[in-house]
Amino acid sequence: MTSSREAILLVGGKGTRLRPLTVHTPKPMVPAAGVPFLTHQLARARAAGIEHIVMATSYLAEVFEPYFGDGSALGLHLEYVTEEEPLGTGGAIRNVASRLHSAPGDPVLIFNGDILTGLDIEALVETHRRANADVSLHLTRVADPRAFGLVPTDGTGRVTAFLEKPQTPEEIVTDQINAGAYVFNRSVIDTIPADRPVSVERETFPNLLSSGAHLQGMVDSTYWLDLGTPQAFVRGSADLVLGRAPSPAVPGRCGEHLVLDGAEVAQDAKLMGGTVIGKGARVEPGARIEGSTVMDGAVVEAGAQITDSLIGAGAVVGARCVLDGAVVGDNARIGADNELRAGARIWCDATIPPGSIRFSSDQ
Ligand code: GDD
Ligand code: MG
Repeated sequence: MTSSREAILLVGGKGTRLRPLTVHTPKPMVPAAGVPFLTHQLARARAAGIEHIVMATSYLAEVFEPYFGDGSALGLHLEYVTEEEPLGTGGAIRNVASRLHSAPGDPVLIFNGDILTGLDIEALVETHRRANADVSLHLTRVADPRAFGLVPTDGTGRVTAFLEKPQTPEEIVTDQINAGAYVFNRSVIDTIPADRPVSVERETFPNLLSSGAHLQGMVDSTYWLDLGTPQAFVRGSADLVLGRAPSPAVPGRCGEHLVLDGAEVAQDAKLMGGTVIGKGARVEPGARIEGSTVMDGAVVEAGAQITDSLIGAGAVVGARCVLDGAVVGDNARIGADNELRAGARIWCDATIPPGSIRFSSDQ
């Protein structure tokens, strides 16, 4: 085990791309495999020997502490710091610096709060030590890097540039992207300007590079997913249930489905592909649910067919509905015989009358 015992978790984003799931719940608290997503990150950090974690909160900040408390249930010491106005990723890191116990030369881990990954955290710290770097970054390769921070490196893994969300084809110089886990020497955190918004990606990393600081990249091909969109979120939850994504915090054995206590599932209903049925939810006869999440207290009526979709807490999906790649907000009511596909988002509390929406003309 390394001596690195401190981390900062960035959990203050608005999660706009996940709406309506993030209307009442901040992104890190949306359930994945039956527990708030953050639980998986906290459990993985603890398993890597981290004991003290400071959460940088902003959007819907008040919900984190009542749920996780002082962290002792997870074997952690958790602290919470709330930004009155969002300070951006770099500002958020700087804003929690006073809570760190590390000495100037000590490594501090920093994690984006929406990443599901099998990253070997200790290996990242080890890479950082061996390179004698100021900052080290976990990098991963993706087919389409445009939605991420591009991070080209030289033959030794040293970072040569940082290009956040490139706008032109000429900027797409690599398929290596910032995977959202860093090791910062404590002293580098203290150089970030205080009390104003700062983007670590657009300001801190480029400035560090131009001042000659040593940024080291560690590329690996372990499981990695940013859960920022509904499709990614439902995929990540299903992968946790199936055991494809590693987490010590999945409540139950990995398999085709996870049915939480107090859920009611008809005997002939089919649940597969990492489907989760939340507490107090009900699945009626003949329903078929694949790779989807049905949150607490939601109802899936008889014969509904649901694939790769998220059903919010307390929502109702009517009989014989067909959902594929859809999101249904909390407490929405979808009447019988509707068809929702291709990224359809039904807002919280909305009501859709029976037989109102189709993507085909066959009935
Ligand atoms: N406290 C606080 N305050 N946290 C914030 C703020 C803020 O003002 N803004 C964003 N965050 C948190 C989010 O909650 C999230 O956990 C993390 O910072 C990253 O924000 P996202 O909004 O998810 O950014 P992204 O996914 O578009 O891009 C980031 O992640 C990519 C990897 O998934 C960047 O770091 C990219 O460079 C990276 O490739
Ligand atoms: Mg993200």
